[in-house]
Amino acid sequence: MNDPALIDDRFFKPMFSVEAFFCSLLLLKNLMNNFLKKSIASIILIWSICFIAQPISTASKDPVRAKHGMVVSADELASKAGVEILKKGGNAVDAAVAVGFALAVTYPQAGNIGGGGYMVIRMADGKTTTIDYREKAPAAAHRDMFLDEKGNFLPEKSQKGYLASGVPGSVAGMLYALDKYGTMKRQQVLTPAVTLAKKGFVMSYRLVNELSSSLNSFLTHPSTKKIFTKKGEAYTEGDPLVQKDLAATLGRIQRYGKDGFYKGKTADLIVAEMKKGGGIITPEDLAKYQSVERPPVRGTYRGYEIISMGPSSSGGIALIHLLNILEGYDIAAGGFGSSKTISLMAEAMKLTYADRAEYLGDPDFYPVPIEQLISKEYAAQRRKLIDVTKATPSSAISHGSVANHESMQTTHYSVVDRWGNAVSVTTTINDYFGNDIVVDGAGFFLNNEMDDFSAKPGASNMFGLVGGEANSVQPNKRMLSAMTPTIIVKDNQPFLVIGTPGGSTIITTVLQVILNVIDHKMNIEEAIDAPRVHHQWLPDTLYYEKRGFPQDVVENLIKHGYAVRERSGYRGLAEGIIVDKKKGLLYGAADPRGYGAAVGY
Ligand code: DON
Repeated sequence: MNDPALIDDRFFKPMFSVEAFFCSLLLLKNLMNNFLKKSIASIILIWSICFIAQPISTASKDPVRAKHGMVVSADELASKAGVEILKKGGNAVDAAVAVGFALAVTYPQAGNIGGGGYMVIRMADGKTTTIDYREKAPAAAHRDMFLDEKGNFLPEKSQKGYLASGVPGSVAGMLYALDKYGTMKRQQVLTPAVTLAKKGFVMSYRLVNELSSSLNSFLTHPSTKKIFTKKGEAYTEGDPLVQKDLAATLGRIQRYGKDGFYKGKTADLIVAEMKKGGGIITPEDLAKYQSVERPPVRGTYRGYEIISMGPSSSGGIALIHLLNILEGYDIAAGGFGSSKTISLMAEAMKLTYADRAEYLGDPDFYPVPIEQLISKEYAAQRRKLIDVTKATPSSAISHGSVANHESMQTTHYSVVDRWGNAVSVTTTINDYFGNDIVVDGAGFFLNNEMDDFSAKPGASNMFGLVGGEANSVQPNKRMLSAMTPTIIVKDNQPFLVIGTPGGSTIITTVLQVILNVIDHKMNIEEAIDAPRVHHQWLPDTLYYEKRGFPQDVVENLIKHGYAVRERSGYRGLAEGIIVDKKKGLLYGAADPRGYGAAVGY
């Protein structure tokens, strides 16, 4: 099999292509005709045409290349902050933590200290681990807290306002990772974030656009209006954003570590903010919050090793199950973007999301049958349900039977350092700007992650996801996530570091980038740029990215039995790195749907 990392050399590959073969025949004919002088000219001409005429598979730009280290995140300033740490001798964990705090300043849509996330780490010596710093339900949370007296689900309560917030986990998780796997002091890794907050930075067109789309809601919260509007007006491109309160909060974290957030002034400010609107996060909830280090979930796909995030995220399990199902088909032969490949993916997606709704939840509260769900045997059993000739309606699909059962906004960043340590982080406050409420005096947005719980069996959350008992609201429980930070290993070396935001589409986006690299032999930029599809079992709709696929492919899918729907404003913003060990190069790509950057050195 070709090594997909080498596909960047595509200009040379055509020498062996069919077109080049026919060009060679032409040349030979010319030579045989013995028009020597003319032939030399034609040789040059024909070979040039052969090369120029080679189809380059997509219109993607080349990935960013670097020799020593690479950071890809949703914001260029944050990627640069990470690379500065790498240049100063920090490892990938040091850099990842610096990026996480910097994103909390420069990418307030999703970068955060008021939310939570997951970090997947593979150290150069082969050790792998994950840090779960997902938010938790406050101790006063209860199963029916988002239902009215008649038992109807009230999404406005789980998505907006103070009850929507879970106890934040990001600061605890990032500092835990830094202490255990980093090499630098928090003083150093937080400095770029503190500086960006204190001195400010010039806002891009995309950031002011995204801020202004939430303007009306910001105006209803004085603490948010104060910072994220220009005295009540929308910011315009080029305006500076200075965040003094946030700088002070980050300074307290720098000085006192975890206590600088979960105790003392920051904690007091969070609790005071809660009291303004019936929020239930208490000082005890904050003081008790701890991240958890857990083993990753592991799988294989066509000889590649998959290392991903286990519960409380559903991402890793769902990704591995999808790959296990699809391994049974010749995806490469089906071709990228064909109705055949899309329908195979969609059938596997439906089966996977049906299991997700039934079996996935916080493993500290619910016995998630991890080993069974990621086994090749279980995938083989589920694969038998796929009818390759037609779409199976979602109503005819249910979760599998697994033994042992009783007992907008998010952001991803990938980092690889010069030693081969790799870190994959996805973090979120759920919606864009979380619940739109800034903690007054502390300068950061609160999350609205409580919406990721299943408020009531069958009721769908903001991503249309359903769930049941496994993901019911319970005090101190982590709400189920779809985040899928992933590291793929080949020949005992990190090969691909990948992840994305996108709510329910996170899992299927990561899946498609992996298939694009491994099966369709795309380089990392092409794999991320390529149009995507999504199916999540319920609703029974196959979504495809606007203008992503030719009309005849879409028509074939309809004939195959799918209800299809074009989706604009596709949510995924995948940020990935491919490591080419042989060449000693790193290739990075930020999703063109966003405005992030791959920065290397
Ligand atoms: O954890 C989850 O699965 C969701 N809270 C992620 C939200 C998200 O990706 C929104 N971004 N577009």
